[in-house]
Amino acid sequence: MTSVDMEADVAEVLLSEDEIRAKVLELGRQISDDYAGRQLTLVSVLKGSLPFMADLMRSITIPVRIDLMEVSSYGGITTESSGLVRILKDLSSSIEGSDVLLVEDIIDTGLTLNYLLRYLRGKNPASLRICTLLDKPARRLVEIPVDYIGFTIPDRFVVGYGLDYGELYRNLRFVGVLRPEVYSG
Ligand code: PRP
Repeated sequence: MTSVDMEADVAEVLLSEDEIRAKVLELGRQISDDYAGRQLTLVSVLKGSLPFMADLMRSITIPVRIDLMEVSSYGGITTESSGLVRILKDLSSSIEGSDVLLVEDIIDTGLTLNYLLRYLRGKNPASLRICTLLDKPARRLVEIPVDYIGFTIPDRFVVGYGLDYGELYRNLRFVGVLRPEVYSG
């Protein structure tokens, strides 16, 4: 059972607010250098990547466009078992001819991204790369070329800074590991 005090449900802080802030600034600098003089569009995948996107776009110093997508696993079947993804919210504008950077909060099995990459490639962007805050390679089922990685993390269930358990904890300012009694309760 989840308690009223979100922080009391966290067993361990894996990434502090300061560590995340420093990493996001570093990624922003790198992306600004790499895309200087180009037409960059950041595409983030709701809902988990919302805080990361908001901070990353403000740490990028070159002009950028943004767009948002939302996806979910198909018909209640988990992405892990099916790899099928349903688009709940599509792009608002064409990305044809743009340099697109897909912004994710976490890559786990890689199935969501695998689907999204195929989908976005079909829209003929000039280039398509990936930036994820968190990478959990231990759970990968499909190989995905990831261009920018904030942190590589162990195979633990993490919440905060966008990541949820039962739609809660997204508003924590850090990334932490939940106490086991929270999911078993
Ligand atoms: C999370 C995350 C990725 C996906 C990664 O989204 O934001 O999109 O799972 O998992 P995968 O690599 O195993 O496919 P989730 O479906 O939890 O939705 P949310 O962002 O709305 O929380």
